[in-house]
Amino acid sequence: MTLTIRGGRLALPDAIVEGDLQIEDGKITRLGTVERDLGEVIDARGLLVMPGVIDPQVHFRDPGLTHKEDLHSGSRACLAGGVTSYLEMPNTKPATISLEAMAAKKARAEEVSCAHYGFFIGATPHNLEVLNAVEQVCGIKIFMGSSTGDLLVHERSALENIFGHGQRLIAVHAEDEARLLARKAAFGAVTDVALHSELRDAESARLASDLALELSERYQRRLHILHLSTKEEVELLRARGKGAGRVTAEVTPQHLTLHAPEIYARLGTKAQMNPPLRSAEHAAALWAGLKDGTLDCIATDHAPHTLDEKAQPYGTAPSGMPGVETALPVMLDAAHRGLCRVEDVVRWMTDGPRRCYGIVGKGRLQVGADGDLALVDLARRTRVGDRPYQTKVGWNPFEGTWLTGWPVMTIVLGQVAMRDGEIDDTVRGRPLRFSAGE
Ligand code: DOR
Repeated sequence: MTLTIRGGRLALPDAIVEGDLQIEDGKITRLGTVERDLGEVIDARGLLVMPGVIDPQVHFRDPGLTHKEDLHSGSRACLAGGVTSYLEMPNTKPATISLEAMAAKKARAEEVSCAHYGFFIGATPHNLEVLNAVEQVCGIKIFMGSSTGDLLVHERSALENIFGHGQRLIAVHAEDEARLLARKAAFGAVTDVALHSELRDAESARLASDLALELSERYQRRLHILHLSTKEEVELLRARGKGAGRVTAEVTPQHLTLHAPEIYARLGTKAQMNPPLRSAEHAAALWAGLKDGTLDCIATDHAPHTLDEKAQPYGTAPSGMPGVETALPVMLDAAHRGLCRVEDVVRWMTDGPRRCYGIVGKGRLQVGADGDLALVDLARRTRVGDRPYQTKVGWNPFEGTWLTGWPVMTIVLGQVAMRDGEIDDTVRGRPLRFSAGE
């Protein structure tokens, strides 16, 4: 819980500076020059010392689908990727839509999670009381269009009922169910996965985001748009405005860097996710949105499915791909290739999610903050898949890609939880605390 880091490049909230850092009893107590060694002394010369990554959207499948992932394996994968905190989705089995299911998930996380955790309560058309009664959750998740699992709230009256009653943050999976159904009927029996991005087209996403923004404005309700995927939605956010922080949005590394339709020829149904990967033109708009602050943060939407499940034909194969182990390297590699700056990556993956969800004590290197860190070798070049995966499903959409910039150490409350890829899975995370929407 106590350690001293010497000679790193510290990613402070406003600049990267050379210096030391000390953690005592799990909290950062000194930054800059540290005079006296305490605890283990880590030589960070040549390394970037950044706050532990916060991944604000993962699916860890626990309970019910633990052959794909569980809170232990998923959190091990977090540590491998420099992620020290995660927010997890409610489409488990049973879905997290009741006080009992939420309590059970928190109890399980307390027992097995190696990283800090927060959970979304899932909305149904009938559980408004639960949405407002449940305590210490990161927000309400609404699937406006159907995806993996059976959670769905698509009728306007049901959405109005949720937006109009309560204060808690609402996070939406924005795809318009009526349009998805109409296109499915019009396309008939599709066997070519490359049509996935046409079936669930950009207009389906735009329609749902537009409705969510309208309801957020009408009821002055805090809204977060999950895995935003289209140029049109970026434009919509710019045109409608974000209500001085009332609205925030995220994007995934895969929507930024993997492009349809080409990606389907290479990965087949492994590239199938909802909302779908889109063209390079959409990706360029997402990058621009991140850079000008229209989009606030990066999330992986880590959605593991086994290789057997993914090997089924299009139509039966499930949507989603793992990502928590590679998100930071994918983004740092983008910085290495000149697409953005390292300080941008740090901000989008630490302080950005902290701000969106009001996560207390995380996301910034400052005295008094929790001692959660990722130590990164910006020059390290490694091929995805050469190091064994921690995710149970054992594959990754970036497999075979050389990436430059990898975490070499992950620290949780002053404890070394990952060192050169070796995980200490006796480390336990704590429940995250939220100030937004509570
Ligand atoms: O592709 C997806 N997979 N999108 C989602 O919204 C859910 C996720 C999953 O849970 O598999």
